[in-house]
Amino acid sequence: MAMGTPRLPLLLLLISLAAVLSPTGTLAAAAARGIAPLGTAALRRLYDTSNYGRLQLNNGLALVPQMGWNSWNFFACNINETLIRETADALVSTGLADLGYNYVNIDDCWSYVKRGKKDQLLPDPKTFPSGIKSLADYVHGKGLKLGIYSDAGVFTCQVRPGSLHHEKDDASLFASWGVDYLKYDNCYNLGIKPKERYPPMRDALNTTGRQIFYSLCEWGQDDPALWAGKVGNSWRTTDDIQDTWKSMTDIADKNNKWASYAGPGGWNDPDMLEVGNGGMTFAEYRAHFSIWALMKAPLLIGCDVRNMTSETVEILSNKEVIQVNQDRLGVQGRRILGQGKDGCREVWAGPLSGNRLAVALWNRCSATTNITMKLPAVGLDGSSAYSVRDLWKHETLSPNVVATFGAQVNAHDCKMYVFTPAVSVSAS
Ligand SMILES: *[C@@H]1O[C@H](CO)[C@@H](O)[C@H](O)[C@H]1NC(C)=O
Ligand SMILES: *[C@@H]1O[C@H](CO)[C@@H](O)[C@H](O)[C@H]1NC(C)=O
Ligand SMILES: *[C@@H]1O[C@H](CO)[C@@H](O)[C@H](O)[C@H]1NC(C)=O
Ligand SMILES: *[C@@H]1O[C@H](CO)[C@@H](O)[C@H](O)[C@H]1NC(C)=O
Repeated sequence: MAMGTPRLPLLLLLISLAAVLSPTGTLAAAAARGIAPLGTAALRRLYDTSNYGRLQLNNGLALVPQMGWNSWNFFACNINETLIRETADALVSTGLADLGYNYVNIDDCWSYVKRGKKDQLLPDPKTFPSGIKSLADYVHGKGLKLGIYSDAGVFTCQVRPGSLHHEKDDASLFASWGVDYLKYDNCYNLGIKPKERYPPMRDALNTTGRQIFYSLCEWGQDDPALWAGKVGNSWRTTDDIQDTWKSMTDIADKNNKWASYAGPGGWNDPDMLEVGNGGMTFAEYRAHFSIWALMKAPLLIGCDVRNMTSETVEILSNKEVIQVNQDRLGVQGRRILGQGKDGCREVWAGPLSGNRLAVALWNRCSATTNITMKLPAVGLDGSSAYSVRDLWKHETLSPNVVATFGAQVNAHDCKMYVFTPAVSVSAS
């Protein structure tokens, strides 16, 4: 260290190192105080974390992005208790549960079209005849958690009763059923601002005393990244995803804008995964999964897990990519470079714990291309050696990488790597 280095930066460096090295609790506490946990000035310049850990809800959940399954993208309204049970079974039998996919989330259409005599929500008697409590017991018996859906309006989007002005009763009913997660939608909202409609459910959930993950779904309308951190554990930043390349790429770009606001306890939500639903190619789904993981997005599977192709299983079960998403540092990766015509040769990157960096080379052009970068462009040291792990080939490249890095990437495909400082063999 140079002589005369002021003490304060050293102290801050030590604090941030301590935060990186400490158990999650201390990191969350550091995050709650808004301490940017990045090790070098180059990283801090590229990966603004000034809003990380602000406005914490502090309900003890979402220290890493949520993982699981949701019924909507594939089944929409065609759901019933048999499907939910079979999905829980399949999450376990396919090994997805062991990889961290633990929330089984029922979306719209579980409830009857009218409230009951005591003004309470009722499960649809045709499709959920055994009731939600029995389903929760079943799902819990598999070591999984159950999620449910309601709406911060007078109706849900499929015109079932909404929870606006029924927050306390509905939250306590969900808690009595053993529900672990609530996705809270935005239809039929009477034009009342989200900032007024979403906090009452937060308070109602808190009052139940049950830890319930609170997922805000106001479609990014009122820039929730700016205020939702103290309301929910995640907030949708965009409109619904569609199973197309155009929708997926648009949403990735919109979500990218809010990267500095994500952190342990509260995540930007660019909507659920479409992997396995048939509207994109294998390369496009691999890119979708890689970028969602890098952006610290919730990894909520949206396909029929009872009937997946081997390609779908390969993508969703990529443990190394999942580890990037679930890294305890919790800094959202972002788009760093766009080269060539329309900037379609893209480099996305994000810091990980242990001074590592995740890097995605994403070819959004229409033909195979080479994507190369100078290491300092993503915040690495231009004169140091790095060990580079290819997360899709499951191979460590040799020899170590210095100064520049690149690869040939097929159209719409994405390669993903983790850069780790190489251990120096010289003692000098
Ligand atoms: C439950 O839903 C699934 C998926 O839509 C469907 O295939 C199945 O026939 C339904 N079962 C019943 C008993 O309605
Ligand atoms: C309720 O809110 C308080 C204050 O933020 C928090 O400490 C507590 O963990 C919350 N409880 C639940 C069950 O969410
Ligand atoms: C399983 O998925 C394939 C498409 O990948 C589809 O053709 C088939 O009908 C599905 N089977 C069931 C039982 O849903
Ligand atoms: C990428 O670079 C390699 C090595 O320089 C070259 O052989 C290859 O043709 C390039 N690919 C494309 C699509 O430009």
